[in-house]
Amino acid sequence: MGYSFETRCIHGEDHRVVDEYRAISTPIYQTSSFSHIKPGHNLSGFDYSRESNPTRAHLEETMASLENAADCVAFASGMAAITACFELFSPGDHILMSDDLYGGVVRLVHNIEEKNGLKITFTDASDADNLKNMMTPKTKALYVESPSNPMMHVADLKECGRIAHEAGALFIVDNTFLSPYFMTPMDLGADIVLHSGSKFISGHNDTICGFLSSKDPEIAKKVRLISKTVGSTLGALECWLAERGLKTLHVRMERHQENACAIAEWLKTRTWVKKVFYVGDPEHPGHNKVKEQGRGFGSMISFETDTKERALAILQNVKLITFAESLGGTETLITYPDVQTHADVPQSVKDALGINDRLLRLSVGLENVKDLIEDLERSVSIAES
Ligand SMILES: Cc1ncc(COP(=O)(O)O)c(C=O)c1O
Repeated sequence: MGYSFETRCIHGEDHRVVDEYRAISTPIYQTSSFSHIKPGHNLSGFDYSRESNPTRAHLEETMASLENAADCVAFASGMAAITACFELFSPGDHILMSDDLYGGVVRLVHNIEEKNGLKITFTDASDADNLKNMMTPKTKALYVESPSNPMMHVADLKECGRIAHEAGALFIVDNTFLSPYFMTPMDLGADIVLHSGSKFISGHNDTICGFLSSKDPEIAKKVRLISKTVGSTLGALECWLAERGLKTLHVRMERHQENACAIAEWLKTRTWVKKVFYVGDPEHPGHNKVKEQGRGFGSMISFETDTKERALAILQNVKLITFAESLGGTETLITYPDVQTHADVPQSVKDALGINDRLLRLSVGLENVKDLIEDLERSVSIAES
């Protein structure tokens, strides 16, 4: 491998000049089609943008390089990438998934994938013995988010990979929360790495996109067939926005984490906070595992307040922090998983996981951390006055 991670965020794998005018920024090839010189021959290697497009190709090469993958496909959303991933399997196949997942994935499973004949079981992926017991001869994949959304459970990815491979199954990791800057799951045994690129990768709360990276060129070929056939690939403008976001990924992730550490520490000192879930907190049960598996902790914090009224008052009274779904952008967002991101998760599952009406999730952005803490403090004191 040539350039370091930071350099590849900016220049891609090979610092290749993409167009004939030697533009520094990858041009946005806003075209549906490319001309042919004779049947079966084009000069550029591109035919039709649903299948491939030069702006997308450059972004995909960069993402594949950052995830240490053989190939990466850019999709119209994280959910489109995850849906394409499920298309690798056939009716009757069993997929074992971690039980604490982004609610949209749970919705996808219950509304689409089960209808398509996949057998899906959810389980605690942080318990390796439990995982082993849940594998069946029909299990074709183990799918985990780590740290998970929103409870920040941490899985031992090397162990998960070993268990999956021993059973002849693929190991799939959603790496949205840490980004390849803090963790590269393929180095730990993952076969497929998924991203909601709408989060830290794009990084500015202005783009919806997703990525599916594959380690094995044969799987990559299947994913390319699926993406071209289903047609859920990413448009050129969004590719450019995602690529622009990537150029600062390494710088943003450091500041995101610095701010999150300060806020988590502060939250732990508040009497109205009952629990703080942040993997960067040395007291978090998964802290050492995250440290061992990667290079940092990210900026996602969930915390439980003392009462439902307190949680609602914070949501209503924050001024700088925005009450909105999503995460990973420059702006700090606060959300209420129970009725927003995880609304479609069955109540019994939410109860078991601890997703209750006192739980808030913060995506810590890049503002001055003093301003963020003051905003939270003020939101609580307004409610008390
Ligand atoms: C961990 C995780 N994976 C996947 C997704 C889906 O991504 P998108 O919203 O880009 O479709 C989300 C969305 O919040 C997420 O948090």
